[in-house]
Amino acid sequence: MTSYPMTRLRRTRSTAWSRAMHREVLVTPADLIWPLFVTEGEGLEDPILSLPGVSRWSVDGIVARAKEAVALGIPCLALFPNTQADRRSEDGKEALNPDNLMCRAIRAIKDACGNDIGVLTDVALDPYTSHGQDGLIDDAGYVLNDATVEALVGQSLNQASAGADIIAPSDMMDGRVGAIREALESAGHVNVQIMSYAAKYASAFYGPFRDAVGSRGLLKGDKKTYQMDPGNAEEALREVEMDLAEGADSVMVKPGLPYLDIAVRVKEAFGVPVFAYQVSGEYAMIEAAVAAGAADRDAMVLETLLAFKRAGCSGVLTYHAAHAARLMGA
Ligand code: PBG
Repeated sequence: MTSYPMTRLRRTRSTAWSRAMHREVLVTPADLIWPLFVTEGEGLEDPILSLPGVSRWSVDGIVARAKEAVALGIPCLALFPNTQADRRSEDGKEALNPDNLMCRAIRAIKDACGNDIGVLTDVALDPYTSHGQDGLIDDAGYVLNDATVEALVGQSLNQASAGADIIAPSDMMDGRVGAIREALESAGHVNVQIMSYAAKYASAFYGPFRDAVGSRGLLKGDKKTYQMDPGNAEEALREVEMDLAEGADSVMVKPGLPYLDIAVRVKEAFGVPVFAYQVSGEYAMIEAAVAAGAADRDAMVLETLLAFKRAGCSGVLTYHAAHAARLMGA
């Protein structure tokens, strides 16, 4: 029986050394994946207004960020392209171009850094479509599952050929993980991983990201016929189960903090590597609170990252990655 005053839980909290000694989880730079936005051009840094402190970088700038990440001990980058308007189309076929912005960025990072850093690439058509949906649409605007999966397989092979280390399908089509895994195996990309955006919700927290990749103005309607309903948790477990059966090496829960319960349940149910995406709207909320004088950025950033680790996540995709790694003394 633990009872007061023999047991005082405040005893171990009474000094900094003791608190450090009793802390159950830690967050280190190795827990971070840094999402970066790529844009055309040379020597270009293009600030994203709805994501204060985050910019789109031309490929040379992306390589500089990659070197910075290596120095900070961040193990992996996640790349997203801002495709030029004249390269977007109804069918998003620029996603299959071996010389598209994404592939050039992957190759440049791999040329400069080799295996000092991993490159995770998002698979979905939204940065390439003129309508901003993640897949191919019919006349009514409905996103077609099987035809989209075929395009995503092509996109994945294109990225893997350019040197991507982790393919991360964020589209939420049924059956895409299995189709991508099979195609990767057949093409000899046996060690290219798949981190599936397994439980991705139709969320109000993606707004700034859509600005960043230039799809916000294009998207009509929403993504609710493929991304998950925020009210569902049991369904997230089914999504994860299927993606694992199809060959996913790790799974992602997205958004992050509002869905920590999902991360915990996935970890408890499957015991596999779970990653959380602290998405653009979450970043913007922290920055807005800081700008309003309502919060201390550094403390908030570290506390939220620790929360993901406490929930059982192996790591976190966060726009604060470089800042956080610096705070951790990297
Ligand atoms: C594209 C994709 C999105 C995000 C990652 N990949 C946006 C969306 O689904 O509309 C969101 C990331 C963020 O908000 O930071 N499929």
